[in-house]
Amino acid sequence: MCGIFGYVNYLVEKNRGDIVNTILDGLQRLEYRGYDSAGLAVDGDKPNEVLLFKEVGKVSALRKLYESSQTDDCRTFVSHVGIAHTRWATHGQPSPLNAHPHRSDRNNEFVVVHNGIITNYRELKALLEAKGFVFETETDTECIAKLAKYVYDLNKNRELDFTELAKLLLMELQGAYGLLLKSVHYPNEIIATRKGSPLLIGVKTEKKLKVDFVDVEFPDFPEIIIDGPADSAPSLAVPQAKGLSGSSLLVPLAGPDLRRSQSRAFISDDGVPMQAEFFLASDPSAVVEHTKKVLYLEDDDIAHIYDGELHIHRVRREEGQPTIRSIQTLEMELDEIRKGNFDHFMQKEIFEQPESIVNTMRGRIDFEKKTVTLGGLSAYLNTIRRCRRIIMVACGTSYHSCMATRAIFEELTEIPIAVELASDFLDRRSPVFRDDTCVFVSQSGETADTMLALQYCIERGALTVGIVNSVGSSISRQTNCGVHINAGPEIGVASTKAYTSQYVALVMMALSLSDDRISKRARRHAIIDGLAKISQQIEEVLALSDRIKEMAETDLVHQKSLLLLGRGYQHATALEGALKIKEISYMHSEGVLAGELKHGVLALVDEDLPIIVLATHDSLFPKVMSAVEQVIARSGKPILLCNKSESALSKLRKTYRTLEIPATVDCLQGLLNVIPLQLMSYWLAVKKGFDVDFPRNLAKAVTVE
Ligand code: F6R
Repeated sequence: MCGIFGYVNYLVEKNRGDIVNTILDGLQRLEYRGYDSAGLAVDGDKPNEVLLFKEVGKVSALRKLYESSQTDDCRTFVSHVGIAHTRWATHGQPSPLNAHPHRSDRNNEFVVVHNGIITNYRELKALLEAKGFVFETETDTECIAKLAKYVYDLNKNRELDFTELAKLLLMELQGAYGLLLKSVHYPNEIIATRKGSPLLIGVKTEKKLKVDFVDVEFPDFPEIIIDGPADSAPSLAVPQAKGLSGSSLLVPLAGPDLRRSQSRAFISDDGVPMQAEFFLASDPSAVVEHTKKVLYLEDDDIAHIYDGELHIHRVRREEGQPTIRSIQTLEMELDEIRKGNFDHFMQKEIFEQPESIVNTMRGRIDFEKKTVTLGGLSAYLNTIRRCRRIIMVACGTSYHSCMATRAIFEELTEIPIAVELASDFLDRRSPVFRDDTCVFVSQSGETADTMLALQYCIERGALTVGIVNSVGSSISRQTNCGVHINAGPEIGVASTKAYTSQYVALVMMALSLSDDRISKRARRHAIIDGLAKISQQIEEVLALSDRIKEMAETDLVHQKSLLLLGRGYQHATALEGALKIKEISYMHSEGVLAGELKHGVLALVDEDLPIIVLATHDSLFPKVMSAVEQVIARSGKPILLCNKSESALSKLRKTYRTLEIPATVDCLQGLLNVIPLQLMSYWLAVKKGFDVDFPRNLAKAVTVE
C-alpha cells in the first residue's frame, strides 16, 4: 500500500535527468503497491531549491509530467538525495495536491514520502495550525513535514543534527509509517525510518564494504527544548502529542532516552570516503537491478545517510534489544520481476505455477523415501504436535489457502484447527492461549491486519509460525518459526502463484506434523505421490487457456453476476475463484458452499445466471451432483468443472459446458481446479479492457488496517 523509493548518490557524478530516471524506474517497480498518483522531489538549480513533481495516475504519467516540465535536467550533482512515492489513497482523493512528497512550507524546506497511516494526525494538525501552519492537503502525511519544520525552527540555535531532529519528530507520531525525509537544511542527507511499514536500503559501491557496529552513549545529552509558550494555545487536550501541547516546554527525554545508540553499516574499509549509491525502497524488487546488498530496517530504526555512510539509530534505546542489523544478499533475479514474453504479470505468474510449486517443494520433499523436511519448523514440530489447537490467520487469498487445507490438516494431525480472517479475529478479541499454535499466512508478509493479529498472539504467548513468500518481511522476521513458500516475487495485484504455493506449503506442514503417525502413513504416501505429479498436471490445465478465453468471451463477458459452487475441499476454490473474478474483471461473483444452496442462494438461480460448479471427484461428489440437479431443475445452466474420466457426467456433458481437469488426490485437487478460474478472471478482465495488473482501488501489500 504505497511504494516509497529514495536514491542517494555520493561522490558519484550524475545529472538530474539520470537521477530522475533512476527514481522513476525504481518507482515503477513499486507501482503495484499503489497507482492512483505519484510524485518525486529532487534538488533544483539554485541553492536550497527543491523541485516537486506530482501527478495523478501511474508512474508513466509522472514521467510525462517531468519530461514536459521546463526543467533543464543537465545540471550535475556530485552528491544528491531524491525521494519518490507511488500512492494508494487512504486520506484524501487521488489528486496532484494529495500525492506525495508533502512539504513543510512553500519553500519545500522539509519534504517527506510516507507509507502507512499517522493516527494522531488530526491532533497534530490542530496544534500546528494553531502555530500558524497552513495545510494544503487532506492527507495525514503533511503533518510530518510541517512538524519537522516546527521542531527545526524551535531548536535552531541548538544545531540539531538530522538524526536528533528525526528522533524528536518520531516521538510525536503515532500509527504506522515507512518514511523518507529530505531537507534543505541537511543537504545530501536522508532520514529513512519505519514502524509497521517495510523499508530496506541497498548499497552499490566499488569499494569493499566494512560493517562497524558501535554503541554510542551520551548520558549527558542535554534536555531539548522543542516548544515555547504558545501565543494561542489550542484548547484541544492532546495527551498523545507529548511535547507539543500548547503549554509544554520540554520534551520529557529522561533516563535512557537521553542516550542514543548507533550502528554504522556500509562504510568503506579504509576510512576514505567512498563513492556510493544508496537505494531506499519499500521492497527489494525496486533495488535488485542496482545491487543485491541490502539491509532491512527494523521498527523504530532511524537510518541516517550522510558523507557516504549509513548510520542506524533507534528512536529510543531499549535495554536488551539487538543493536546489530545484518546485511543480506538478495537471491532475487532481475528476470523474476520482468514480464518477459507475457502481456501481464498476472498472466506470467499463472503460467509460472508448474515451476513455482516445484520451488516450494524443492529440497523439502524426498519423493522416493516419501518424507517431508521443513527446516524452518523442525525445532518446533513436537511443540506444535502437543498444542491445544492450531489457529490459521490470514486475509483474502491467503485466507483461502488456509480454508483449502484445513480439512487435510485436521485429518492428518487430529489437532483442532481454526481458520480466521485477521480483521475479524482481532475485532472479536478471540481468546488465544500459551499452548496454541498460531499460523500466519501472507504473500507479502506485511499485511497490516495479519501483522496486528500476530502481535496479539505474541502478547498472549502463543507459538507463532509464518508461511510467507517475501523473505525478510515483517511476518517472517517476527514469528518464532516458519516456512518460506519460495514462489518468487509476485507482482500482479491479484495473487495466483502465491496461493498455490501457500497451499502446498500448508499441505507439507500437515504432512510433516503427522509423520510420526503410523495410521496415517498410506494417506501421507498417496499425497506425496500426488505432489510428485502436480506440476505436470498444472501444465495440462494451463493448456486449457484458449478454451477458457473463448468461454469468457462468448458466455460470460456480458454477464453481470456469476456463482461458483463447491463443497468440501472445493469450497475454498469457489471462494478464491470468485475473489479473482471480482477483483480484476469487476464482475460480481460469489463463491457458495454447495450445501448451502438450498438455504437461500437457490432463489437467484434462473436460466440466465451463469453458475460454475466444481464437480471434480471426491467423497462429496454425489452431494455436489445433487446441487447440480437442483440448479438444473430451476432452469439453470451450470458450467461443470469436472474430471476427464467422470462417467457420472456423460449425460450432462451433452447439454452443458464442461472444463475437464486431470484428477489428483482429493486434498490436492484444489491446486488444479483453481487454475481455470484464475485464467477465467484474467481473460474476462482482458476482454473488458481492464488493467489486469492494476485493478482499480486495490493495491498489493495492504499495510493499513
Ligand atoms: C487477492 C489478494 C489479496 C491478498 C490479501 C492478503 O488476489 O492478493 O486478497 O491475498 O490482501 O495479502 P498477503 O497475502 O500479502 O497477506
